[in-house]
Amino acid sequence: MAASVGVGVIGMGWMGEAHSRSYRAVPLRFPNSGIRPRLVICSDAVEERASSAQATLGFEEATVDWQKVVEHPDVDVVDIAAPNALHLEIAAAATTAGKHVFCEKPVGRSPAETAAIEGHVRRAGVTSFVGFNYRWAPLVQRLKAMLADGRLGTPTNYRGRFYSMYGSNPLSLLSWRFSREAAGLGVLGDLMSHVADMALFLNGPITAVAADQHTFIADRPLPQPGRSTHYAVGEEGDPTGPVENEDYVAALVRFASGAHGVLEASRTIFGPKSEMAFDLYGTQGSASWNFERLNELRLYLPDGDRGHDGYTTLLGGPADPYHSAFVPGDGLGIGYEDLKVVESYEFLRAVRAGEPGSPGLADALAAAEVQEAMIRSAASGTWEDVPSLREP
Ligand code: NAI
Repeated sequence: MAASVGVGVIGMGWMGEAHSRSYRAVPLRFPNSGIRPRLVICSDAVEERASSAQATLGFEEATVDWQKVVEHPDVDVVDIAAPNALHLEIAAAATTAGKHVFCEKPVGRSPAETAAIEGHVRRAGVTSFVGFNYRWAPLVQRLKAMLADGRLGTPTNYRGRFYSMYGSNPLSLLSWRFSREAAGLGVLGDLMSHVADMALFLNGPITAVAADQHTFIADRPLPQPGRSTHYAVGEEGDPTGPVENEDYVAALVRFASGAHGVLEASRTIFGPKSEMAFDLYGTQGSASWNFERLNELRLYLPDGDRGHDGYTTLLGGPADPYHSAFVPGDGLGIGYEDLKVVESYEFLRAVRAGEPGSPGLADALAAAEVQEAMIRSAASGTWEDVPSLREP
């Protein structure tokens, strides 16, 4: 494939805009890669969002009809940043047209839809990528390398969580995320997908789970067309509608490695803001990371000297993967959207190399299999094995 990669983006909300900015930033942040994304066409069901995205982000064309993105002859990759209900239909059409696919997590509304999308991608033999962006934090990458080198000994237990405040206010609007039809799962898809992926990335496969879930806030103010956003809040007395999926999920998990863990996700937590975090404990050391402190890694690696026996806080720096693409020195921080730039770069690099993509749909399926076991366990009240959902 030529150095120029034709990009089409569907859904110009928070993620569609962030992805588009990230594609534009790839040649600036990774100039030696030779990758030159060409923003061919963007789509949103709301015409004003499509045209304003075209104007501000520099797309050649804009449309309200996502099929036009998939069919466009200059589009090599289709980026799916629309609500979950559209993931399967768009991915099916894009892979049929032979396009490479980026799909935002949770990849469909349910584990079954993730499995169907994985099947489409695998059978079409295209590159796929998924928005598990927290993997790309340079200090998470550093820890991953340390684990591979056995620096923390044998992992014994792991605690992963995503505590988000976006639904903590009972007046937070009833956006598409709270609807079974538009979103499918609640926090078990939206945030647990990130938690499960990080757990799998750092620890390997999960074999069994024991889960619990709950909806804390039953009704929310209805959104106003064209005005609602993910973080928008209504007013006392506004008409309300029912929340149709779970606010909270927790699970005990067993890893194939022999380690044990706890995974948790909440969108109604009061206090933490965006605490996508983990604590990993091994026989020779421990590590903690929290997205709210993206540029810090807490490490416990004792060397026998009781005089300084305790956790150390490391700051990210040029020795860590990707860091110097953004800032040159130790302790200079990067942010959320920089992780999205790394993600776009790795996606387009895989496309040009003809690789399957990582994290791609195979990784999304692995997370979905854990989520599927959590759904069954929360209903049965017992431990459930993690199944294979892979289609033939
Ligand atoms: P959003 O609500 O901000 O944007 C969705 C956009 O899709 C809206 O502009 C809407 O008008 C548009 N849309 C709806 N139907 C459409 C259609 N038929 N054709 C074209 N466009 C259509 O939602 P947000 O937050 O950007 O989420 C989108 C996806 O990204 C979801 O799957 C979500 O789970 C994922 N996400 C991932 C994040 C991450 O950290 N990786 C963070 C936020 C969202």
